Amino acid sequence: MAKFGDQTIEQVRERADIVEIIGSHVRLRRSGRNFMGLCPFHNEKTPSFSVNPERGFFHCFGCGAGGTVFNFVMKVEGLSFPEAVRSLARRYGIRLPEQDESGAVSTERNELFRANQVAAEFFFHVLWNTPDGATAREYLKSRGVSPDTARAFMLGYAPARPASLARALEKRGLAERGLKLGLLKRDGTGASYDAFRARVMFPIRDAQGRVVAFGGRVLEDRQPKYLNSPESPLYSKARTLYGIYEARQAIAHRDRAIVVEGYFDVIALWQAGFRETVASCGTSLTAEQLRTLGRYSRNVMACFDGDEAGRKASLRALEVFLEAGLLGRGIFVPQGFDPDTLVGKRGSAAMEEFIEGAELLIDYFLREQAREARGSVEARARAAERVAAMLRLVANPFEMDLLARKAADALGVGEDTLRRAARGRAASSNRAVSRPAGATPALSAGDAASKAEFGLVALALFRPELRAELGARCAACDFADESLGALFEEACGLAPHESYEALMAERLAPEQQGRLSELAVAPLLDNAETAARMAGDFIAALERRRRRREIEEKKRALSEARDGSDPAHAQAVIALKRAPKGNDAAGK
Ligand code: UTP
Ligand code: MN
Repeated sequence: MAKFGDQTIEQVRERADIVEIIGSHVRLRRSGRNFMGLCPFHNEKTPSFSVNPERGFFHCFGCGAGGTVFNFVMKVEGLSFPEAVRSLARRYGIRLPEQDESGAVSTERNELFRANQVAAEFFFHVLWNTPDGATAREYLKSRGVSPDTARAFMLGYAPARPASLARALEKRGLAERGLKLGLLKRDGTGASYDAFRARVMFPIRDAQGRVVAFGGRVLEDRQPKYLNSPESPLYSKARTLYGIYEARQAIAHRDRAIVVEGYFDVIALWQAGFRETVASCGTSLTAEQLRTLGRYSRNVMACFDGDEAGRKASLRALEVFLEAGLLGRGIFVPQGFDPDTLVGKRGSAAMEEFIEGAELLIDYFLREQAREARGSVEARARAAERVAAMLRLVANPFEMDLLARKAADALGVGEDTLRRAARGRAASSNRAVSRPAGATPALSAGDAASKAEFGLVALALFRPELRAELGARCAACDFADESLGALFEEACGLAPHESYEALMAERLAPEQQGRLSELAVAPLLDNAETAARMAGDFIAALERRRRRREIEEKKRALSEARDGSDPAHAQAVIALKRAPKGNDAAGK
């Protein structure tokens, strides 16, 4: 992905009005200095979503989501930071100079997208407007797919004749791209022919609606049932979710996502009113796919077969969910059905019941382990070890806390023992696990020092007159949270009217954004005197923590020296401990 210079980002930010951008998704009403509305990231009936136009921040007091205009676009459209910049630039007609990547790469990608688009439109045209499409139209009808639904998913038909698409692509100079994307193949003579023939075509689109690949289904019982585009510069199976473009807004609005296996399952559920549905494209779910979904909602449910094999598969999926920072629920579809046939034969209400009955995968896992633990002491110990290993994967400390209690109860083992076992390697291994999007409100209650860190960053960002003093009295090394420390230093160095949004969009995890945005929309920092007083308090809090740490450090050094055999060193440490408090020079 191309990177943009600070100036470009600055330009986009200047033009992108946060109230206008958010206002096109949420009905906003002015309330004092802020605008209020219903949060688009979770279900609510009374507004707890605020936008502060002066500081350029939004924050939801209900779900903790928050950030700048860039974060909003990233979250609502499921984009990365550069993609969000690009999307805003497009909206405001700003031309983006692509900095370091050569123009050639991006033209090639655009051409590949263009080839896929041409193909999708070609298949679409054949389905609806040609005699060749008649059997496919009949087929879709027999599967209960309405024309409106088929159009929403841009379904098409690849005709049986061997070089139909090939000619359409050649005419536009896109034959090479067609080959690269697996739409075309070469025969012995070097001539290209269509890879998909006599199949109903399902364009697979990314979150922005661009066609990245295709799936094609035969109309009768023939093998292979589905043919799919190969991996390409545009398509990575492990990263893609079929239906994400059609589902993303429903997922955010309803705050739940349903993951199924097949193209037809997505389409049938969508048509039955479950627009929050995506499919994993026939592979087993990956953490990457789940992380994408987690950006829209943390409430992600996957469908499994109701039989033994499906239950086993759900336990394998649990690990992947946890790796993605999500707990995950399982919808167990009765044997002999898939979601498509379930809504078809039993209706939406039955499906909704299954969805509402969806159990946390970890609850099911704990029940299984508890059952196995009943046999003997050894069996219980082994089960506890398996549970501890699973708990180690839980990234969120609050979830971990609740689960440890539940697990200890279920297994009949000591809670502390289980916790200790679970913590074993957790501290280091969990750090690699990305934090779930959308911090829970509970997470904003940190200890005093952590509160002070966020407070100082907020002051440096929102009260330019304090920057010089803050910069002189605190440094990045006073921060336990390195990313906040770095942001603090940069904020202190900003000129009074320089903007800061771009600084933050990429740097901070969603829950950090949420804690900062909470301060941005609150009236707390509006008053200059209050702000200055808070600055003093925050600095003092960090100072206290630093002193506490120094003392602990000295104590540890002292006890180590006592254990060791070096009396001279012990003496030195004792001298250190006696040095006057707060006098750095004496301690070093
Ligand atoms: P299923 O066999 O469950 O098919 O495969 P389905 O989606 O229910 O399709 P219908 O209802 O029989 O028409 C689930 C998914 O696995 C992938 C496809 O993505 C399919 O939607 N798959 C299946 C393939 O890629 N190739 C195949 O040959 C079969
Ligand atoms: Mn099916």
